[in-house]
Amino acid sequence: MNNSSLAKPVRSDEAVFSPSSDLAVRAQKNALYRLIRCLFAEGILDPALLSPADDGSGVLFPVREPRSMLWFERLERAPANTLINRGAIALLQGDGQRRLIDTADALLDVLLPSFDFVPADAGAEKLKADIASSIANDMLARRFRESWDGALREEIAAAGAGGLCDYMRRRHGIRQAAILLDQWGSLEGHPFYPTWKTKPSLSEEEVTALSPEFAAVVPVRIAALRKEMAHVERMPHIADARQWFAAHYPETARSWATGLAARGLQVADWLPLPIHGWHLEHHVRQHFAPEIEQGILLLDGPDIATRPSMSFRTMLPDGEEGGPFIKLPVAIWLTSEQRSLQAKSIHMGPRISTVISDILADEQGFGGSLEIFTEDLGIHFKHAERQDDAEGKHLSVLFRATGGRLEREDGLLPVTVAALLARAPSGDGPLISELVDGGSGMATAAAVVAFFRMYARAVIHPAVQIYLLYGIALEAHQQNTSILFDREGRPVRMLIRDFGDGRTYAPLLRARGHDLRPYVYKGILPTVFEDDIEPVRSFVIDACFVCHLHEVALALTRHYGLAGDILWRVMGEETERAFAAARPRMADARLWHAERHHFLGEGWSTRSVLRMHLQKYSNYRLQHQLPNPMGMAGA
Ligand SMILES: Nc1ncnc2c1ncn2[C@@H]1O[C@H](COP(=O)(O)OP(=O)(O)OP(=O)(O)O)[C@@H](O)[C@H]1O
Ligand SMILES: [Mg+2]
Repeated sequence: MNNSSLAKPVRSDEAVFSPSSDLAVRAQKNALYRLIRCLFAEGILDPALLSPADDGSGVLFPVREPRSMLWFERLERAPANTLINRGAIALLQGDGQRRLIDTADALLDVLLPSFDFVPADAGAEKLKADIASSIANDMLARRFRESWDGALREEIAAAGAGGLCDYMRRRHGIRQAAILLDQWGSLEGHPFYPTWKTKPSLSEEEVTALSPEFAAVVPVRIAALRKEMAHVERMPHIADARQWFAAHYPETARSWATGLAARGLQVADWLPLPIHGWHLEHHVRQHFAPEIEQGILLLDGPDIATRPSMSFRTMLPDGEEGGPFIKLPVAIWLTSEQRSLQAKSIHMGPRISTVISDILADEQGFGGSLEIFTEDLGIHFKHAERQDDAEGKHLSVLFRATGGRLEREDGLLPVTVAALLARAPSGDGPLISELVDGGSGMATAAAVVAFFRMYARAVIHPAVQIYLLYGIALEAHQQNTSILFDREGRPVRMLIRDFGDGRTYAPLLRARGHDLRPYVYKGILPTVFEDDIEPVRSFVIDACFVCHLHEVALALTRHYGLAGDILWRVMGEETERAFAAARPRMADARLWHAERHHFLGEGWSTRSVLRMHLQKYSNYRLQHQLPNPMGMAGA
């Protein structure tokens, strides 16, 4: 094939893009970026088949049927087999024709015959539909963002603040600043899922009214459930669920109790059960009609105004009353699964919170490097006679305490990691660059490396200590993790949430005198492992390294134009340091060596998110290996 005439294909309609169609183009590019990244990283397409075009303009990939070449104008290679598309794509056909590929659908059609497997639906129709939903929601969010950022720019200037984080500190208390930053930081969604913003069952109005990236405030109804129809799981400091609720949401609890009494009911017979406003109308009323009819579930009750946090379904009360986070089921498909809140999470959240709290007390927070949002109390519907845990997965709640975490006086501001990677309102770079630069102009490469070292240490040290010494995996991905920054903008500590699906390795926990009761139920995959530590390790590597530190390194490397893989080497050095810190305390030297080798010398295990989607989630634990970019000699 003659490639010498390759030039950037020009779209005839390029000149007439309106601002909104520009958003459409950007959303399509976003979808293409994610799809291409996953296709090569997961080995669905073999990156070894990429070759430079003869004339030096971009790279080519051979397409199987009909035989032709796919041309990428700018496909950048970053560590860990990360292929980032930043330019045009075209199909070079055998007859010399060149066809522009500018949608994810078109790319899928061209590449499907070259996949290393046949998807569950041969045309990948479900994937295409979910990508279309993501694109539509991405456009909506970016349109909203333009005016939100515009308003923030004015407010930041008027306050004379040094940037968004500084402004949030000056304008709001820490609790309010943290949740607003979390909502603002929801813009990008999961960093590489091709269906990053899919919400197929929601209308545009619903997406806008319910999603954090629109600064939504959503009502949560406090319903009432007969107490013998529930399973209650509590941390040991809680004696009584209803009293605990009354202590944390005093006005709401009073109005809830008054409502029951007005109906002539005994308050002591009932439990308060929060229900997400959308879920109440679209699922609970129909699905639990028999329970409502039988007087087991009362749907009247006060509403709490809440802000959805980045996960969409964990809500922070927004009023004067304050109160813990409320994590809820919503019968909506988001990103990769329906957001139910199953019995396993209700049982394991408080149990794991208890074990980690005990460990942090013994270990002084691993040198003050780790805090958690404890999941103090969980409730799920469980019929007194039927005793079926599965029935409760859409009628359940987990309360996540905020005291001392969001309400704090130590000058530390928790910023959810995904927010650090979103573009700052100034438009100058990712939010994290405000903290790196610290108000004195663009930081030098040496200063960026020094900042990243502090950052990586704040994440890696506690994650590796609690894993090696206790067998606990922290799922420290971008949405579960906040970094606590001091007033000077230095990363000092990690604050982590979301333990319901947390994985643990029981032999290590037991060896240090801790007991974690596993949740065992038919059809539910185990999360407390006895024989093999691998699933626990891959959880740490996927969340903490692949989805989090790797992304921070990519963003900083690009923004500051850093050379090569320097930040990945820093990551490796900090991992070495964390292993060295744990070594004197590990009786089993073989385990230490083996784990060090896995973290530093072997491929990074990560979830095959695209392959799982294309296989209709017939296996939720598919994973692949990425070349380890920390690859250390002798590890
Ligand atoms: N940067 C991000 N990384 C991962 N997930 C993200 C990100 N931004 C938004 N999300 C969304 O957050 C959710 C993450 O799912 P996950 O199971 O970790 O949390 P959860 O259990 O639903 O809630 P929580 O973390 O509040 O306990 C998904 O819906 C995902 O789309
Ligand atoms: Mg989460």
